[in-house]
Amino acid sequence: MALTKTFLLIKYIAVLFLSNVILVNGNELDWWQKTIIYQVYPRSFKDSNGDGVGDLKGIEQKADYFAELGVGAVWLNPIFKSPMKDFGYDISNYTDIYEKFGTVDDLKSLKKKLNSLGIKLILDFVPNHTSDESEWFKKSVKREDPFTDFYVWRDPKGWDSEGNPIPPNNWISIFNINSAWTFNKERQQFYLHQFLDKQPDINYRCPQLRKSMEDVIKFWLDAGIDGFRIDAVPYLVEDENFLDEEYIDPEVPKNEYLNINHTYTMDQPLTFEIIRSWRKILDSYSKDKNVDTRVMLTEAYTTLSKTMEYYGTEQEPISEMPFNFQLISKISPQSNAKDVAKSIQDWFDNMPAGKWANWVIGNHDNFRVATRYGTEMVDALNMLVTLLPGTTITYNGEEIGMEDVFVRWDQTKDPQGTVLGKDKYLTMTRDACRSPFQWDDTYNAGFSSAYETWLPVNPNFWRINAKAQKEAEVSHYKIYRQLVEARKMRTIQYGDFHMHTPTNWTIIFTRSLQNETTFIVIINMGTEATEPDLTTLGINLPSQLYVYTASINCRYKLGDVLGSGARSFYLRPKAGLVLTTNDLSGNKTQPSSSSSKLASSITLSIISLIFFLINK
Ligand code: NOJ
Repeated sequence: MALTKTFLLIKYIAVLFLSNVILVNGNELDWWQKTIIYQVYPRSFKDSNGDGVGDLKGIEQKADYFAELGVGAVWLNPIFKSPMKDFGYDISNYTDIYEKFGTVDDLKSLKKKLNSLGIKLILDFVPNHTSDESEWFKKSVKREDPFTDFYVWRDPKGWDSEGNPIPPNNWISIFNINSAWTFNKERQQFYLHQFLDKQPDINYRCPQLRKSMEDVIKFWLDAGIDGFRIDAVPYLVEDENFLDEEYIDPEVPKNEYLNINHTYTMDQPLTFEIIRSWRKILDSYSKDKNVDTRVMLTEAYTTLSKTMEYYGTEQEPISEMPFNFQLISKISPQSNAKDVAKSIQDWFDNMPAGKWANWVIGNHDNFRVATRYGTEMVDALNMLVTLLPGTTITYNGEEIGMEDVFVRWDQTKDPQGTVLGKDKYLTMTRDACRSPFQWDDTYNAGFSSAYETWLPVNPNFWRINAKAQKEAEVSHYKIYRQLVEARKMRTIQYGDFHMHTPTNWTIIFTRSLQNETTFIVIINMGTEATEPDLTTLGINLPSQLYVYTASINCRYKLGDVLGSGARSFYLRPKAGLVLTTNDLSGNKTQPSSSSSKLASSITLSIISLIFFLINK
């Protein structure tokens, strides 16, 4: 007993003495905590065969881009066999590849290439629904076992005066702005679809279905995949009583999805149980095969508290990264620095013990961040999401400030847009953020040799493209690269975090770690210049600070030396600045001090051993 106490005391003192490192569960960070996860939208990344649609070979051809960018993992939106009614989120075969994207061999080859560059591969897993062209669904319609109950089937509530079946309840589809139920004449029952009628919802109360889904997960794990982004998790399970959901405002039309409390169709207890069981599959896989953690990212547009539940607990973990959409859903161009700080703090305050944050500012479902906030804010927002504690998820193109493309009505593809019709589609279309990646200023921005690409290339590609930005002295790309380098440093990985909003429009945060360089990030969200006096923030800073990186619109450049006191510098509207307490401008990859950490832990072990022997 005395011995254990002595050991614990030494360990405690040593940890205090050695550093103020933030350790999650007392561990060094895992691979997915140290890197950036880069989201690739395969249809729009690179077309290798000139058919106007991106493909796996194209992604492989561009794999060096990921390495140059310095990201450690690539997440691909769904690449599986699909009639593409919802652009891959309607899967007809979970273990095969969509023909326009390539073959399973192409995927293996891509994986090999990525792994040779030290980059991991994460796939999208879409477990809430399949395509209605899936064999599972076709057999379920025919009541062929074991598929009979693979989907959520219900009898009509009754029949109207014209002999039409009445849906079982008032549940509304997210996309269709009408009933979430479609009647299948052959089976003479309604099936549920929380999204399109082409996307029938799966029934997780059916044990054979659950087993089939687990087999899909195992199939891709055996193929060497490093993790999954799990789609639409809140909708996995519905309440068994199939009761009507309550309208929030009875005056608002009944087909407004957001006017309904989705008490019976979202975040059900069984949903958590199921995802937890998948977590266990991933964990057993990495344990049994003695390989790196297989990660789980979960997509849930739900309340903050429910989102947090997808983390699970320390004892019963679920997702490493329930996507943090706060900076998309809670923040708008109307928000001030205090709103932004609040949404950041809310995440930390609500995150369960021992969990790790993540930051998302855009994806294939939302208008691009450069369009939402304006190009002037691109660098500052990249500074924010890459330097906060947590993992950053970058949607392809954010690193070069790609903007939404205008898609004419006759070019529109996204079902979420088309359903609203010509007058309203622009308010909801996701085509805008899915346009082809802008590689250079050549034909079709270097994306494809086709006459027509599946969505138009943004006409601004001649000035916004990766090649131009790589060549420019200062560019969004260069700034992003510099931020990626910062993420490799221990201060950004392990350092503590303090946030300040000295004015309504200025957000400042620091990252510091004992014996390491401190980072100070300053962002002006306003339309007036800001002149922060860093000495008033209660941060202990030297009088000289170095510019580590600065937004394009900032008047300072890498390596400039600024003072920390009043009137030492000012920030233009929408500008961002990263300062450090040491000059890192010449030495962009700060030497890691991991060797000294190792030395420290060896010393600790030796001291413990000596105590052990003395006590004996
Ligand atoms: C979320 C995906 O991100 C979105 O693109 C898709 O349409 C829905 N889930 C339905 O699968």
